[in-house]
Amino acid sequence: MRPDLVVVSGDLTQRARDAQFAAAHAFLVGLGLPLVVVPGNHDLPLFPFWRRLTGPFERYRRHFGRERLPSYLDGELAVVGVVTPHASLWKRGRLAAPQLARIAERFAATPTGRLRVVVAHHPIVTGADPQAERAHGASAALAALRACAVDVVLAGHHHRSWSGGDAGTARGAVGTRAMVMVHAGTAVSDRRRHETNAYNLLCSDGPRLEVTIRSLHGDTFAAGARSVFLRRGDGWTTLL
Ligand SMILES: [Fe+2]
Repeated sequence: MRPDLVVVSGDLTQRARDAQFAAAHAFLVGLGLPLVVVPGNHDLPLFPFWRRLTGPFERYRRHFGRERLPSYLDGELAVVGVVTPHASLWKRGRLAAPQLARIAERFAATPTGRLRVVVAHHPIVTGADPQAERAHGASAALAALRACAVDVVLAGHHHRSWSGGDAGTARGAVGTRAMVMVHAGTAVSDRRRHETNAYNLLCSDGPRLEVTIRSLHGDTFAAGARSVFLRRGDGWTTLL
């Protein structure tokens, strides 16, 4: 498909081991495509516990670099990743005010006319499951990202392929400055939850954004459910 960019919204490893990071890194670099990668909670070591507290991202950074806001910019796309796992909130993750301020600064310095995308491991809307947990600071994050004219927020963690508006779980939820929220399923791990392995293909064409779930059938990923969003004025509406 030769996409312009590959985005990985975290949980590259199961137990944050060096060999697991090395394998993930080799696989992703082997794609030969631009990458934006953020860590997930599984990329912080569980054991020994002191390592989680003293240097939670040490191994991740050894393989994937120290960039706090890994990003990508071209004539059509401005993508900014943010690190949401936290040593003392291992599972839930957070988006803190200083991180939101750094994202706002980054977009303020980014030329307009590009699709603005934020990538975080932990979702800031519940998505497919109304009971699902959102990151700490999710409500403030939604307001802050809307304020810096973000178009799309990509997340992982829930293991459920889903896309919709930013008002919650309802598909087609729209409003002033509504963003499109896209949650990734489980791409390649065999520790799946509810669904077969899948990833999302996003195609942006002018005011139109198409999100296709590509899921594994036999040994091939094939196009499945598709959602279409259309930019209207200051936000997005669902077409399909
Ligand atoms: Fe996770």
